[in-house]
Amino acid sequence: MKAPALKSVPLFSGLHESDLESLAAVASIRRVEQETVILQAEEEGDTLFVILSGRVSVTMGNEDGREVILSILTAGDFFGEMSLLDGKPRSASVIATEHTELLLLRRADFLYCMQRNSNLATRLVSTLANRLRRTNRQVESLALLNAYGRVAGVLLQLAEDQEEGEGKKEQSTIFERPILQEIANMAGTTRETVSRILNNLEKRGYIKRDGRRLTILDLGRLEDDFFFHP
Ligand code: CMP
Repeated sequence: MKAPALKSVPLFSGLHESDLESLAAVASIRRVEQETVILQAEEEGDTLFVILSGRVSVTMGNEDGREVILSILTAGDFFGEMSLLDGKPRSASVIATEHTELLLLRRADFLYCMQRNSNLATRLVSTLANRLRRTNRQVESLALLNAYGRVAGVLLQLAEDQEEGEGKKEQSTIFERPILQEIANMAGTTRETVSRILNNLEKRGYIKRDGRRLTILDLGRLEDDFFFHP
């Protein structure tokens, strides 16, 4: 593993050259195929994973195969930090949704680096705060909204994920929307319901679709009409 590749990972971007070099020396690389279960909920583990390329979903499920997607993570994101930090079993399962290249760091190496770099700790905590915000929104949506509101909430979140803080926009395009089953698992509904709702939202002029590209034509209108007032 080369230090420059580590530098492009936001979590490590503030590290000194020497710390990048020592992290690179102890990190290992793992490549996994689509559908590989990288982490299984409830298992013990003390490794942190950074996604170098590819895409994974963070999920929780029950025995009948029902599943909720907590998050979809892509290149530059990390996971596995919770067990690494608190020593408890994995809080969720993480599954590769495409061919994915991962960087693995063991607890002792990561903690040593974090103790030397307050920057790294700050970035980690800030990401955790952001994940908690998103999860709060998801809990609110699942507990309080109807299926339209929940699907609209997922679309608004996906749109927000793509924004790069250039103020409030009226319209937003999700360039590669998740597949219908993934949207269903994020919104706590079925694939068929998502399909029906997207068709209906398109017919009513809220969204426009072209393959996997989905444009929300008026973010404020979608939010006002569905997300907060089901
Ligand atoms: P860990 O509990 O070690 O293993 C599962 C990982 O999934 C967890 O660390 C986090 O990295 C990630 N994870 C768990 N819950 C969420 C969530 N709500 N949002 C994003 N990622 C999560």
